[in-house]
Amino acid sequence: MSNLNPKLSTTLRLSPVIPVLVIDRTADAVPLARALLAGGLKVLEVTLRTPAALDIIEVLARQVPEAVVAAGTVTNPRQWEQAARAGAKFMVSPGLTPALIEASADLSAPLLPGVATASELMTALDAGFNCFKFFPAQQAGGIGMLKAFHSPFPDAQFCPTGGITPALAPDYLQLPNVACVGGSWLAPADLVKAGEWEQIRSLAEGAASLVRR
Ligand code: 3PG
Repeated sequence: MSNLNPKLSTTLRLSPVIPVLVIDRTADAVPLARALLAGGLKVLEVTLRTPAALDIIEVLARQVPEAVVAAGTVTNPRQWEQAARAGAKFMVSPGLTPALIEASADLSAPLLPGVATASELMTALDAGFNCFKFFPAQQAGGIGMLKAFHSPFPDAQFCPTGGITPALAPDYLQLPNVACVGGSWLAPADLVKAGEWEQIRSLAEGAASLVRR
């Protein structure tokens, strides 16, 4: 089965920025998601980096159905299956392994695999993927690297993530092969902890107003 996923490329273009969320307390999930949505961001990545992450995905799928919730930091097929069962609409992984490629034949929720080099990209394109997380974006060559990828790999679409700031995001979004960018700056731990939802809404509003090429 091909991993070519026209739906994923449409989803990635719903908003210019995907907030990468590390949420400790389940109780924060709904107000956080609502603040991000109120600011105009529709796609949220809940990373599987906290014990509560799967519960949080389930709660958001039920209580904030207007958000497109992805599971992030999915590193193996078991997590993919668990996150899909919890209601994640797609999976984001920092890299791509043979086990994830194999699982993509059976698991229906799409995967946005991480790539950082031309060889990784070639392996992933061969496996049928066409949308990628470019990770870690700033450390792996940033804008120059994505420009260099475009000519040999014109069909590859990217969501660069890792080290991207509000100041860097506009330049990434001008690239023809960038569908959106990802970043954790939308939900700083101190603001989440303090329940500063209005400040988070305002950060989201700034990100949602970024212009994509
Ligand atoms: C990720 O988990 O995708 C990245 O670590 C997010 O990177 P950032 O914290 O530099 O935005």
